Amino acid sequence: MTTAPPGQPERASDPRAPQGWSPAAWTRKGEAHQFAYPDAQALSRAVTRLSLLPPLVTSWEIHRLRHEIAEAQEGRRFLLQGGDCAETLEECTSGVIANKLKILIQMSLVLVHAGRKPVIRMGRFAGQYAKPRSAPTESRTVNGQEVELPSYFGDLINAAPFTPEARTPDPDRMIQGYQHAALTLNFIRSLCDAGFADLHHPENWDLRFFQHAGLTPELRIQYEAMSRDLAGALKFMEALGERSVDALSRVTFFTSHEALNLHYESALSRRVPRREGWFNLSTHMPWIGERTRRLDGPHIEYFRGIENPVGIKIGPDIDPVDLLNLVDKLNPRNEPGKIVLITRLGAANVARVLPPLVQIVRSAGKRVLWVCDPMHGNGITTAHGVKTRSFDAILKDLEQSFDVHQRLGGPGLGGVHFELTGEDVTECVGGASGLGEDDLSANYTSLCDPRLNYEQSMELAFLLAGRMRQAEG
Ligand code: PEP
Ligand code: CO
Repeated sequence: MTTAPPGQPERASDPRAPQGWSPAAWTRKGEAHQFAYPDAQALSRAVTRLSLLPPLVTSWEIHRLRHEIAEAQEGRRFLLQGGDCAETLEECTSGVIANKLKILIQMSLVLVHAGRKPVIRMGRFAGQYAKPRSAPTESRTVNGQEVELPSYFGDLINAAPFTPEARTPDPDRMIQGYQHAALTLNFIRSLCDAGFADLHHPENWDLRFFQHAGLTPELRIQYEAMSRDLAGALKFMEALGERSVDALSRVTFFTSHEALNLHYESALSRRVPRREGWFNLSTHMPWIGERTRRLDGPHIEYFRGIENPVGIKIGPDIDPVDLLNLVDKLNPRNEPGKIVLITRLGAANVARVLPPLVQIVRSAGKRVLWVCDPMHGNGITTAHGVKTRSFDAILKDLEQSFDVHQRLGGPGLGGVHFELTGEDVTECVGGASGLGEDDLSANYTSLCDPRLNYEQSMELAFLLAGRMRQAEG
């Protein structure tokens, strides 16, 4: 194994890396972060330590994901990406992790059935610990005094309690984040190896949400029929002993997170024996957030040198030409399986903003996968100051994105990106269970954005499946 030198790896001279690029080249591109580590020596120690620790994922897994994304770009697979807005170290527990896998598996099966194609399952987990914030600091009145402290940037950087100690960025948290990502991934890999979910028996699924009074009789009948149908289809394929069933039913998960903290990401970027290129071995698919995708900024500088597939979040204000420049900079050779465009436009903007984006990318002949994130453009705050999202707006964003891609021809919408949890939280309003604003306080545990709960997630999967089947005719 080629071991990176301690500290930020500077050695590039790789045939696939851009001229003059190294994992640490981003440090020459100006301020990368909204936060600063007060102790430079402690930072350097943590980065050195990280750069010597073993990788969390492997280059061959990354290559396999690129291959699967390439197929999705041609309409032969569909991507389901989901998980917490922010993972926390505290919630690195067996129940929480298993429930996240379970909801993703169940949703993916509904989508496999509807789309008649394999689904790439990708968690926002095992490293989703760093959060961009709308402001670098937060002010609160404490004992009658106005106190200003750094915002909470996720457990990889600082801690949530509003005290100077907790909010001071601590580089050792990168080591803790790495360790918790490793523990999470270890458990996920063991569960998958042990046949955690028996995909051939979906009648065992937990479909509690069918019992809710809010569900209309037609919807209940439709969902139950779809679930029976799915059970039958899997049994039939199993009986035939088709090898392709294995590919459908074998549960594999890929990991992803927002690569916000470039100290962490570059320390875990490595070269490996017998393969060209630099790999970010902290996750399979890192993504670039809406707030950090400046063409000449440090994040794009870092991302342009790695081999991983890369997600790019796209908000409603993007100029189509800027999007094209981003795609070009990150994938100058227009390689398949590399670029995943995650639009988070907001239900009110999709019909206006999405078509020119799709058209410009298509006319330029760029290979990309279009994924809809119906969460991040649809945040609202209640009269009581609680951050939430409405199920209806999320659904509308999703349906409109689906329709735009369908109308424009080509392979259509290639995936979806949700903030969700397998727990019964009360963070988003709406859905068949009729969760209202007054219910939000019952079990609101997200430290950042509101997530869909188990029932809301399953309901969305069924509604999306309905659209997909309609489209199939
Ligand atoms: C997120 O995915 O949690 C996030 C912050 O998204 P965006 O960059 O799209 O706002
Ligand atoms: Co979020």
